[in-house]
Amino acid sequence: MKVTVVGAGAVGASCAEYIAIKDFASEVVLLDIKEGYAEGKAMDLMQTASLNGFDTKITGITNDYSKTANSDICVITSGIPRKPGMTREELIGINAGIVKSVSSSLIEHSPNTILIVVSNPMDTMTYLAHKSTNLPKNRIIGMGGALDSARFKYRLAEALGAPISDVDGMVIGGHSDTGMVPLTSHATRNSIKVSEFLSEDRLNQVKEDTKVGGATLTKLLGTSAWYAPGAAVSALVQAIACDQKKMFPCSTFLEGEYGLNDICIGVPVILGRNGIESIVDVPLSDAEKTHMQASAEGVKKTNGLLEL
Ligand code: 2OP
Repeated sequence: MKVTVVGAGAVGASCAEYIAIKDFASEVVLLDIKEGYAEGKAMDLMQTASLNGFDTKITGITNDYSKTANSDICVITSGIPRKPGMTREELIGINAGIVKSVSSSLIEHSPNTILIVVSNPMDTMTYLAHKSTNLPKNRIIGMGGALDSARFKYRLAEALGAPISDVDGMVIGGHSDTGMVPLTSHATRNSIKVSEFLSEDRLNQVKEDTKVGGATLTKLLGTSAWYAPGAAVSALVQAIACDQKKMFPCSTFLEGEYGLNDICIGVPVILGRNGIESIVDVPLSDAEKTHMQASAEGVKKTNGLLEL
C-alpha cells in the first residue's frame, strides 16, 4: 500500500506521522515544493521509527511527481492555511490553482488512485477536484467531517464530564464555521441519547463550540491546527487501505442524496478499498434539515467563485 501526501507542512507531516505510526502502509511519500523540506521531514519521521515501532518507509521528495507513481491513495494538503480571523472560504483564490494542478500531476502518475482532499475551503476544493479530474466519484473524498466529528466528541465529553470513549456523534454539512451540522439528535453516551443528560442550552453550546473548533485553534496557534486534521486523515486512509467499511462523514459528490445535487458536502459514507462505497441516508430532525440546506447554499456560493 503506497500513500502519497502532498504538502509537508504541519498538516501533511502530521498525516504522514499518524499513517506511519499505525503501520498499515508499506510506503508514505511526502512531497513539497520547498527544496529539501519534505526530505527533512521524512528523515526526521524515519528517525522515530525504531522508537515508535513502525516499518512504514517514509520518503521525502521535492516536486518530482514521478516518485509518487502508482500510489493507492493520495492526500492533498497543499495550499495556504488560514490566519487568525480568516474564514476557510477566503483561501479559495490561491488554493484552487494549487489543488487543480496537484490533482492533475498526481493522477498523471497514479491513474487508479483515490484522492483525499484536505486543502481549504475543503468542500469547494473537493468539488474542483471532481470537476477537473473526471475521476469516478467514489475516488474523490473530502476530509472535514471526520475532524469536525472528533471535535464534536471532544466537546460532548467535556460537557458530559465523560471519557471520550463513552461518546459517539457525527458532524455533517460543509466544513466551515457556519456550515457544520453537528447531529445532536443522534449523539449518544454509551448508546443513550446525550439529550438525556444535557440541557438544550448546553447542547447548543456544544454545537457552537464544535462549529468554531478550527477557528478557536487558529486563534490560539496563529495558524490552523494539525494534530487532529492529521489523525482524521490517517483514519480515512486506514479505513480504505484496510477495507474496513467504516462510516465517516466525508465530503462527496451528491446526486440527489439529502435532496442535494451537483455539490460536494459532508454526509455519512462507508469507506473501504474502493473509496466511498456507499452514502448512508440518516434521518435528520427538521432543524438539522434546514441547517443542511443552508450549509449547502453556503458551499454552492463558494463553488460559484471557481473558474471551472
Ligand atoms: C481545520 O479545521 C485545517 O480546516 C482544518 O483545522
